Amino acid sequence: MRILVLGSGAREHAIILALRSEEESHAIFAAPGNAGIAREAHLVDVDPMDPTAVLTFAKNEAIDLVVVGPEAPLVAGVADPLRAHGIPVFGPGKAAAQLEGSKTYAKRIMDAAGVPTGGSVRAHDTAGVEAALDRFGAPYVVKADGLAAGKGVIVTSDRAAALAHAESYLPSGAVLIEEFLSGPEVSLFFLSDGDHVAPLSPAQDFKRLRDGDEGPNTGGMGAYSPLPWLTERFGGEDEFVAQVTRDIAEPVIRQMDAEGTPFIGLLYAGLILTEQGVKVIEFNARFGDPETQVVLPRLIDPLSRLLLAAASGTLEDQPRPAFAEATAVTVVLASEGYPEAPLTGRVLTGIDGAEEVDGVHVAHAATALRDGELVATGGRVLSVVATGTTFGEAREAAYAGLERIGLEGGQYRTDIAARVARA
Ligand code: AMP
Ligand code: GLY
Repeated sequence: MRILVLGSGAREHAIILALRSEEESHAIFAAPGNAGIAREAHLVDVDPMDPTAVLTFAKNEAIDLVVVGPEAPLVAGVADPLRAHGIPVFGPGKAAAQLEGSKTYAKRIMDAAGVPTGGSVRAHDTAGVEAALDRFGAPYVVKADGLAAGKGVIVTSDRAAALAHAESYLPSGAVLIEEFLSGPEVSLFFLSDGDHVAPLSPAQDFKRLRDGDEGPNTGGMGAYSPLPWLTERFGGEDEFVAQVTRDIAEPVIRQMDAEGTPFIGLLYAGLILTEQGVKVIEFNARFGDPETQVVLPRLIDPLSRLLLAAASGTLEDQPRPAFAEATAVTVVLASEGYPEAPLTGRVLTGIDGAEEVDGVHVAHAATALRDGELVATGGRVLSVVATGTTFGEAREAAYAGLERIGLEGGQYRTDIAARVARA
């Protein structure tokens, strides 16, 4: 197949590595890609945020499948003209991407579909925010309504900090004040063709910047898959996945279809396992980053076949995606100053050495070649990924790889998958 992947993160590198691992050989194009993706795909100078430019490229290059990685181009409507021209695209159109682009829209869909989520209030001014904060009480959860690259959410017991966060987002529209939910979090991905869903294997993400879940929320600092502890609570991963499919994914997909905005692409369910049952924290309209880096290396079936089936409405004909028992762990290396103000342009060394560690590969994110040197160009620079038989093995390999990488001021968590490796 001729496949165009939009995006430039470690998620997109992971998607492309999965496509490359198939028996069938594909012509893969990436826009804009990064220094790691450049080794696997043709980088093309097409702006993912420009739907017309993407359509023109896809037509000129006779692309068979477009895979949209990040949320911003989806929310900007990149999928719509492609679909209108009969080009299979994995990713929802502008209207359905509101499931991620607007927390208010997502809450309305969940209400209509009877999907369990925390209570929330939309506030438009300081008085409304204060009333909502006092209604729910501490700890306070405040969310920007629109896209905020993982930085829109604050969870704090400090009322003044909650109020200040809300006020910083009020000028851009409304904010959501939510009921605080407590429990372990799970990211579960579903491929959707608008009508049917196919679940992938669950993963857990580490959202806070520092060890022990301290520090600010980030896009994600590490992840592991599968989640062996689901067995204790649900009897097994399959039982858990079946429950979430029935109670959450299918009702949402049905509701969106009934409203004339079918969701075609990846439904990312951000879940929290509360004492009162599984609840939705958020939906995303694309693969998670860094969870994809640990889910896709375990996928046995050819990814291209599944994505094409979702993009062309034939998911029902596919066998359910199967996963290897192997464990996978990823640790993200971020630039100094991330997430507030990452320092960029610093030299990155040791990636080849890291990949010499058994079971380790590196998914690039913010990397570029400048004058023959590899440099970091953004906040989350790369994901070191390791697979193993046990979590202990995978975790040890991931950190052994990471220690071989040099980046001045680079930050990473040292406790990714520590608990599950001890269990
Ligand atoms: P989100 O961007 O909505 O995924 O939120 C980022 C993170 O904030 C989540 O992964 C949770 O750890 C935390 N969070 C969000 N909403 C809640 C909530 N209602 N209760 C507790 N924690 C939350
Ligand atoms: N890892 C969280 C996300 O992709 O939104």
